[in-house]
Amino acid sequence: MPNNKYCESTIKVGTFFSGIGAPEKAFQRLKEEGVIKDYKLEFFSEIDKNAIKSFCAIHNVDETLNLGSITDIKGTDLPYCDIWIGGFPCQDISCAGRMRGFDFKSSTRSSLGWEMIRLLREVKVKPKYVIFENVANITSKAFSETLKLFKQDLIELGYSLHDKVLNAVDYDVPQTRRRYFLIAILDNDIDFKFIDGKGCNKTLLDYLEKNVNEKYYLTDNNYEIIDDNNILFHNKNNSNRTYEININKYKNGGVCGVDKECKFAQSSRVFSQNGYVPTLTANNTADNCKIVVEGD
Ligand SMILES: C[S@@+](CC[C@H](N)C(=O)[O-])C[C@H]1O[C@@H](n2cnc3c(N)ncnc32)[C@H](O)[C@@H]1O
Repeated sequence: MPNNKYCESTIKVGTFFSGIGAPEKAFQRLKEEGVIKDYKLEFFSEIDKNAIKSFCAIHNVDETLNLGSITDIKGTDLPYCDIWIGGFPCQDISCAGRMRGFDFKSSTRSSLGWEMIRLLREVKVKPKYVIFENVANITSKAFSETLKLFKQDLIELGYSLHDKVLNAVDYDVPQTRRRYFLIAILDNDIDFKFIDGKGCNKTLLDYLEKNVNEKYYLTDNNYEIIDDNNILFHNKNNSNRTYEININKYKNGGVCGVDKECKFAQSSRVFSQNGYVPTLTANNTADNCKIVVEGD
């Protein structure tokens, strides 16, 4: 956020595809750090009932602030906001998905991003700032024509644009998570610059909870030493399930082992507490993310 009048007044915020509200958390932190005076969430828009519950609990707001599906919102009904933020669904754009999304007529989740353009056309007073966020793959050749049209529409609506792929690990978060940010600004006279990252001094260990219920640990003392560098741990509930860990890789951080019975290459990776992780799958199954932590 540039250093201007918005930093001295209450910033009115509206979010779409709100999930659990990461942008709202960022506003809270900016306020706590004294970068902005205050902010007010005018509305959010989310359809997933668990996300909505979490959002309201995390941000201490009532569910009535949720406008529901963006497809049902009329721009003319929206209260004025200084800023809109929307990280539209990315499954159909991400490399991990089937890459069919974002086209006008694709009828995929990613085409929902265009709904924000529709609302910008319909709203009585347009927000000064709009932030769109998506996976880095949206900048690939497969989506370049559609992204160009998306940007053209924003320019026609009077916005000047700034975009960049940022990596969380460059901003002191121990996760290699590359995300595309498109910043649209109505005031042409604002000199916007992305802040350069300064790298990361943290590891997963800085984020892991110290007191964790035993049920979340996969192994105990049932292991075999394979050679000087490799240990095979058996799952404590199913000894046929094993995890091979490389000690050197564990010390260095990053991927340090493999869940040998896991069928999916991506979720078979085991990470060290001493490094970074890529974007983790959150599928809540036995194939969930695994991290090697050092016991007492
Ligand atoms: C990529 S996530 C965004 C996560 C969010 N930025 C956060 O901080 O948690 C996309 C979200 O869009 C929501 N979504 C999908 N279709 C929607 C719709 N029609 N209207 C509003 N939200 C929708 C999904 O439930 C999901 O939570």
